[in-house]
Amino acid sequence: MEYLAYGKTGLEISRLCFGAGRIKDTCDTIEAGSKLILKALDEGVTFWDTAEGYGTQPHLGEAIRQIRREEVVIQTKTAVKNYDSASNSIEKALRELQTGYVDVMLLHAIASPEDLAAREREGVLDAFREAKAAGKIRVIGCSTHTYTGPVMDAVIDHPEIEVILTTANKQGRMLEGGSIDRHLEYIQRAYDTGKGISIMKVVVAGGIPEADMPEWIEWGFNLETAHAINLGMTNYPHITLDVGLARASARRRLIQRKAA
Ligand SMILES: NC(=O)c1ccc[n+]([C@@H]2O[C@H](COP(=O)([O-])OP(=O)(O)OC[C@H]3O[C@@H](n4cnc5c(N)ncnc54)[C@H](OP(=O)(O)O)[C@@H]3O)[C@@H](O)[C@H]2O)c1
Repeated sequence: MEYLAYGKTGLEISRLCFGAGRIKDTCDTIEAGSKLILKALDEGVTFWDTAEGYGTQPHLGEAIRQIRREEVVIQTKTAVKNYDSASNSIEKALRELQTGYVDVMLLHAIASPEDLAAREREGVLDAFREAKAAGKIRVIGCSTHTYTGPVMDAVIDHPEIEVILTTANKQGRMLEGGSIDRHLEYIQRAYDTGKGISIMKVVVAGGIPEADMPEWIEWGFNLETAHAINLGMTNYPHITLDVGLARASARRRLIQRKAA
């Protein structure tokens, strides 16, 4: 597994990120979900992504309870739109994740420049700032769901957004508002400014044939401007395949660096 700096955040992450968005679909209990996540950790996946809205913070929390907190980097998100709700979301995240701090807290699914600039989101950012000052959050960022274009300009230019979770896959599937080639230019710009970059929808939320998965996942790992490849692993075979591809990519990148 490759470990690298998450942009200029000061965090070190595994390049493969465990996306916990859909583990409730396959894991009947919190314990079963935590076992799946801990298997990924055994394989070296130290970067875990969740959100208040997925309902899987408790699954991560049960896993965190069984390890040393500093072994993992936890990224979560809230889609709420005011200060009070955001403060509650932060406290809920700490409680459900069974931790004293969240490594990365994201504004969930920024849909437009107006959405980012809205008074409601500013209230959420106020709550994030306060929590950061109190040591409850280490890094602030956002996800942009499937959107590109002006929303990328807005989040890249925002000085407090340190991390961006965005859609990227080899055909630009699910991307709204521009082509994948243009989107990759935005990602390059964000990367060059030192933001931490995670990509999602790498396998189109499961919308490609099973046989094509390795090729699409490999495309993600070949994207040099992505610090993390967030894959929504929901079972043990997914972990085996994704970890194998992550390790192969790490070997290739090491050889390239040595040759350079
Ligand atoms: N706005 C946001 O911030 C946002 C939105 C969505 C997701 N996310 C994050 O991104 C993560 C990934 O979600 P995504 O929507 O981008 O989905 P994805 O990773 O593109 O696809 C995940 C789905 O692909 C299928 N799949 C088949 N083989 C797989 C393999 N080897 N590894 C992984 N998945 C495989 C599974 O679906 P089947 O079980 O149907 O086969 C799985 O549920 C989520 O878990 C979440 O952490 C964030």
